[in-house]
Amino acid sequence: MVNSLYALAFASSLLAGASAAPSPAVAFDPWSYQKKFVTCNAEERAANKSTPIKLKLAYLDINPTAKKTLVMAHGWPSMWTTYRHQIAEFGKDYRLIIPEHRGFGDSQHPKSLDNSNTMGDFVNDIICMMDDAKVSQAPCIGNDFGAQVCWEAGRARPDRFNGVFNVGIPYVSAGIGFTPNSGLAKLNKFFGYQVYLSDHPYLAAVELDDSPRWAIRSCAQVADSQLPADFLTKTDTFLGPWRQYVESHQIERIPFSGIMTQEVEDYMVESYKKQGFYNTFNGYQMGNRKRTYDHEVAQGNYTLSVPTFALYPTRDPVSNWEDFAKQVKAASFLKNHYNTTIATAHWPHEEKPEEFNRILRQWLGNVTYTA
Ligand SMILES: *[C@@H]1O[C@H](CO)[C@@H](O)[C@H](O)[C@H]1NC(C)=O
Ligand SMILES: *[C@@H]1O[C@H](CO)[C@@H](O)[C@H](O)[C@H]1NC(C)=O
Ligand SMILES: *[C@@H]1O[C@H](CO)[C@@H](O)[C@H](O)[C@H]1NC(C)=O
Ligand SMILES: *[C@@H]1O[C@H](CO)[C@@H](O)[C@H](O)[C@H]1NC(C)=O
Repeated sequence: MVNSLYALAFASSLLAGASAAPSPAVAFDPWSYQKKFVTCNAEERAANKSTPIKLKLAYLDINPTAKKTLVMAHGWPSMWTTYRHQIAEFGKDYRLIIPEHRGFGDSQHPKSLDNSNTMGDFVNDIICMMDDAKVSQAPCIGNDFGAQVCWEAGRARPDRFNGVFNVGIPYVSAGIGFTPNSGLAKLNKFFGYQVYLSDHPYLAAVELDDSPRWAIRSCAQVADSQLPADFLTKTDTFLGPWRQYVESHQIERIPFSGIMTQEVEDYMVESYKKQGFYNTFNGYQMGNRKRTYDHEVAQGNYTLSVPTFALYPTRDPVSNWEDFAKQVKAASFLKNHYNTTIATAHWPHEEKPEEFNRILRQWLGNVTYTA
C-alpha cells in the first residue's frame, strides 16, 4: 500500500475547499512589483537524448538588502502572488526570492512537457536565481507542487537550502517505490484531475485557456466553500463539474471566495493568458515524475538532514495530508522535523495568513545561516 502511495505526493496539487471568513484583503498591487530576469542552463530531453538549452526565467527579489533570505515556491494553478501576505510580513526583515516557475507567466520552458521538467530541474532553476541574486543559502518554503520542489531542494542541495517549510504535500521518499499516473485516481478519487492534466494536456489546455478565470477561481476556494461533489474527480474534464454546478444553482459564474482580491485574481488571469496553461502542467507529467524518482533512487539518499516543517491543512478537499504523511512514513525520513495542522483548505498562507505567518516565524529560529 505504501509503495503505491508514492505517486500521490508527486501528483498532488491544487485545490481548495471550503471555509470560513476569508482573510482580510490587504492592500497589495501585484502590478507595482518588478520582476528580475535571468538566463539559466537547462536540458531539452527526448527519450534517450539530452541537449543543453537556456531558459530565461523571471523571479521576484524583495527587500534585497536584508541579510537573510527566504525562497518561496508556488504551485498550480497559482503564481508568486500566492505569497502576498508573506511579502507583507517577512519582506520587512528578510530578503525574499520568489520564483516564477518555468512555463508560468514570464518564464520560458523547454519544448518537451513530459521529459524536461523534473523536480531537480525546478530546483536548479531556483539555484540559478539565487546565484543571480548572489544568495548562497536560504530555506525553501513551498505549497502544492512547490512543496515537492522544496522537499527535493532540501534532499539534493542541503548546501544551498538550509531548511524546508512546506504546506500540504508531505515528503514522499523515493525509497518507498513509484506509482504510475494510472494508479493515482484509483487511490484517491480526488486525484482524478491529475490524471487528466498528465494524460490529456492538450485537451486540458484548450479547456482552461478558454476560461482562465474559472480555472483559477475553481481552486481558489476556502474551507467553508461549497464545491461540486465531483470536482477534481474527473479524468476527462476539469471544469465540467463546475459548469453543471453553476447551471443547477442558476448562477452565472463560480462563486468568488474572497481568498484574494479581485485585483489579484485579475493579475493571475493576465499571467496565465501570457503562455496559456499547457506548460503549467509540467509538474504532473509521468515522464518527469519517473525521471525524478529514478534520479533519487540513483543518488540513494532519501533522508533530509536540514530542519524541516510540514503544515497540514485539515479541510483540504484534495486529501487528508496528515494521514497521508503517516502512511508514507514521512517523518522517518526527516531528521530535524516539526509539523502541525491548520483548519483551512488548500491555501492556508492565503486563507489564514496571520496564523500561518506566526507558525512560520516560530520555526525559522531552527534555521542556521552559515554563509
Ligand atoms: C533508451 O535506452 C534504453 C536503455 O538503454 C533502451 O532500452 C530504449 O530502447 C531506448 N529508447 C529509445 C527510444 O531509443
Ligand atoms: C544526496 O546526494 C547528493 C549527491 O551525492 C548530494 O549532493 C546531497 O548533498 C545528498 N543529500 C543529503 C541530504 O545528504
Ligand atoms: C510530526 O512530527 C513528529 C516529530 O518529528 C513525528 O513524530 C510525527 O510522526 C510527525 N507527524 C507526521 C504526520 O508526520
Ligand atoms: C523550532 O521550531 C519549533 C516548531 O515551530 C519551535 O517550537 C521551536 O521554538 C523552534 N526552535 C528554535 C530554536 O527556534
